[in-house]
Amino acid sequence: MAAAVWSPADGFPVLRTARTVLREITRADASALFAFRSDPEEQRHNDSPLTEAGQAVDLVDRLARDHRERSALRWGLTLAGEDVVVGLLGFNSWDVHHGRADVGYDLSRRLWGRGLAAEAMTAVLDFGFDRMALQRIEIWTESANVRSVRMAERLGFVREGTLRGYVRADDPPTAGGDGGTRHDVDVFGMLRSDR
Ligand SMILES: CC(C)(COP(=O)(O)OP(=O)(O)OC[C@H]1O[C@@H](n2cnc3c(N)ncnc32)[C@H](O)[C@@H]1OP(=O)(O)O)[C@@H](O)C(=O)NCCC(=O)NCCS
Repeated sequence: MAAAVWSPADGFPVLRTARTVLREITRADASALFAFRSDPEEQRHNDSPLTEAGQAVDLVDRLARDHRERSALRWGLTLAGEDVVVGLLGFNSWDVHHGRADVGYDLSRRLWGRGLAAEAMTAVLDFGFDRMALQRIEIWTESANVRSVRMAERLGFVREGTLRGYVRADDPPTAGGDGGTRHDVDVFGMLRSDR
């Protein structure tokens, strides 16, 4: 029998893989979150880097609110045996009605190149299809974000199209910013029937 669809009343789900544990992020993790989310190189193709510790606390609070409202579900990534948050991944937006969500991921730069993010993502995808009743999962990533594109392909996502000039290059906007330079974004999709 299929497991019941997850709801916030069930509590925050903890997911485990061979090398990672994915768990809820709390305010106690704000400084760990700040450590990797403030790295401009790591955030080059992602959200703007955090510049003040208070922004990490705001992010933790936003994640908790999204989780309560079932509009998103994002996990803190820890290495098995070390309860320090070194990554943030999960469903950025969740459309319950259409059974659709998009996933995002980031990992502390010192841990890149070990397959940890991809390994953790397999648990996230299983949870999405098996416990959130998703029919479709998407990845939106800048086309120039080579590691992210490679990971999407390695996970079995299908490249469905490229949105040309979709985001501005100077994000956050700079004074007199260069609205002329823009970045393409690739959209990848995985249907339940693709698995
Ligand atoms: C995107 C991101 C999470 C990918 O992390 P990553 O560690 O590069 O990717 P993976 O987890 O798929 O690891 C794959 C790499 O580990 C290597 N690897 C080593 N051991 C491995 C193993 N046991 N299993 C799989 N891969 C392994 C692979 O060969 C591969 O190397 P390559 O990149 O040279 O081809 C990371 O680059 C990141 O945090 N980027 C910044 C945030 C960001 O831009 N997020 C995307 C927003 S849309």
